[in-house]
Amino acid sequence: MLLRTACLRRPAFTFEPALPTFYLMAIYPVRVNKRFRSPRYAGRIRAANGVGTAASFECGCFVRISLAVEPLSKSIRLAGFQTNGCGFMTAVADLMAEILAGANLTELHALDENEFDRTVSDSFGPLPAERTQCAGLVLEAARAALADHRSYLIEEFRGEKALICTCFGVSEETIDAFILANRPRTIEDVTAACRAGAGCGSCRMLIQEMIDEALA
Ligand code: FES
Repeated sequence: MLLRTACLRRPAFTFEPALPTFYLMAIYPVRVNKRFRSPRYAGRIRAANGVGTAASFECGCFVRISLAVEPLSKSIRLAGFQTNGCGFMTAVADLMAEILAGANLTELHALDENEFDRTVSDSFGPLPAERTQCAGLVLEAARAALADHRSYLIEEFRGEKALICTCFGVSEETIDAFILANRPRTIEDVTAACRAGAGCGSCRMLIQEMIDEALA
């Protein structure tokens, strides 16, 4: 209950803990408290070309991730976050921004949930069960930011063949041809053949739809 109260009462974007230090120390584990009090990636990236937001109806908090991605190298030049959430959400969002900043889209392994949970646990220790939704929300916002960046690239795209995977430049035609010839059942089968879906992961839903359509 104390955690819920702290979650709802912090003002957005300030990172000035509104509660006394001894109180924060009591409700947050040491490593969470340290990161929450001194986040390194707080704030919106002005030149962002990928922005994603996720919100919780349970606690009323939101988290937004913004990214500036170099179009040619596909590396994330800058990453930042905004949230009105609790110390757990702030600390995890700061960690996510750190993971993303400097990474290449092609190396993100579709932001695998288990991998991210392990990194969070290694960094802060296991989160209390009622706070795992904070990490889930951060992951959702990061995926939304990557999907937003993909939409941006698709809009900019001037080629003749529709692109599905912008990370690896794989066209709809290539994926369709593979699906027709091999009748794959999973995205992993498609990824193993042409790498589509192995980067930021934002094309995976589309690939799944193409597989489902072919199998229907
Ligand atoms: S668009 Fe990034 S993995 Fe396909």
